[in-house]
Amino acid sequence: MNTHLREAAKEFMVRYGGDTFPSLFRSAKGSIVIDDTGREILDFTSGQMCATIGHNHPAIVQAVHEAGEKAYHLFSGMIPEVVAQLAETMAKDWMPKGLSKSIFINTGSESNEVAMRMAKMFTDGYEILAVGGSWHGVTGGASAASFASDRKGYGVHVPGVFVMPEPNLYRPYIKGLDGEASALACLEMGLKMYDMASTGRRAAIIVEPIISAGGVLVPPKSYMKALREAADERNMLLIFDEAQTAFGRIGHRHAADFFGVTPDIMSVSKTMGGGLPLAAVATTPAIEESIHSKGFTFYTSHVSDPLPATVGLAVLRTIQEEHLIERAQTMGGYLRRRLEELQSRYEAIGDVRGEGMLLGVELVKSRDSREPFHALGALTTQRCYELGLSMNIRRRPERGSVWRIAPPLTTTQSEIDRGVDILDEALRLSLDEISRTKLVAA
Ligand SMILES: Cc1ncc(COP(=O)(O)O)c(C=O)c1O
Repeated sequence: MNTHLREAAKEFMVRYGGDTFPSLFRSAKGSIVIDDTGREILDFTSGQMCATIGHNHPAIVQAVHEAGEKAYHLFSGMIPEVVAQLAETMAKDWMPKGLSKSIFINTGSESNEVAMRMAKMFTDGYEILAVGGSWHGVTGGASAASFASDRKGYGVHVPGVFVMPEPNLYRPYIKGLDGEASALACLEMGLKMYDMASTGRRAAIIVEPIISAGGVLVPPKSYMKALREAADERNMLLIFDEAQTAFGRIGHRHAADFFGVTPDIMSVSKTMGGGLPLAAVATTPAIEESIHSKGFTFYTSHVSDPLPATVGLAVLRTIQEEHLIERAQTMGGYLRRRLEELQSRYEAIGDVRGEGMLLGVELVKSRDSREPFHALGALTTQRCYELGLSMNIRRRPERGSVWRIAPPLTTTQSEIDRGVDILDEALRLSLDEISRTKLVAA
């Protein structure tokens, strides 16, 4: 362990939010990350939900090398051959039919800026309707449409953004209905409120098809179809933010396939670069033609860069060659069954949900009250880490305490077993500790 570097991190780095671990990190391979003491930790978050084909997959290492032999970066007006190849691959093999025009940038935030700018220019409107619990990024437009994190402290958000209550089947805002009916009622109410407030200059509805940071909420399929209709009725474009759901994570090519709904614009990012900064936005030729004629610009230093595009092609090829979409279904199903088995033994696990290898586990004080058990979430996450498992907990007072479990799609069954065994042990230790503390307090 290099204590000097740990001190340097404390002394010289800006703290950028979220919890950081006490150790520094040295390397990562497959589903394992290694810290500065040489300790191996099982990574059940695929880094920041990006490393779907596993950390430092040989195909990615090879792609970085290949780009090094050719070009990492070019003048933005020079379209690299590899970017043309990626655009064709996206259109022919990956995007929903019709979304055949793509632009390649670097981060999820940026991709949603592109998507919303496209929608504004196409419709000549500016209103964006978003969903509660969403996370579309940290840049101006994207953060204005995000409601899963703090909005305080940064001044005025981009005006013209409206929010609807999210469809939460476990904690329905509208009580007394079944989950699906409650989700649809939320949408109806949200749309009524929006229509009341709208100036008529409507641009787009933006949604994460599975609301991840908001607690891994999977809306019913009827919700997504109703959202499509709502957009059409209002001459708004429908944007799917598939940062986390595209390219196999949920056991489908993307959520548009899963829901059977095609958006007008799709943004993709995290899962496309396999850990390198690559994002894309795909839309129809008609939308592209229209905005181009109006002067659409998204000219950045790294738009169409060859390095991330080479990596993106390698990631997409690997997903196909290693049958990772099918694997997300089988391994995701296995992981889910193991988590449900834990749920049968722990009253505190109120809900297990999600699709493929994007799962949520919600912790409650009692299954009847569904009161969030934040203390248990925090303590168990810490114990998991001490025992060698990295987990991500989303804790918002208004939304419960939910683990987001998204291991690389390449994770083996024995790694899943090891992870769930650690979780089991960590839950047991944490519940013991909490009840002992209560006894002492009493
Ligand atoms: C659904 C979704 N959209 C957009 C983003 C923003 O992506 P980035 O952090 O790459 O800017 C995130 C990041 O967590 C996300 O989860």
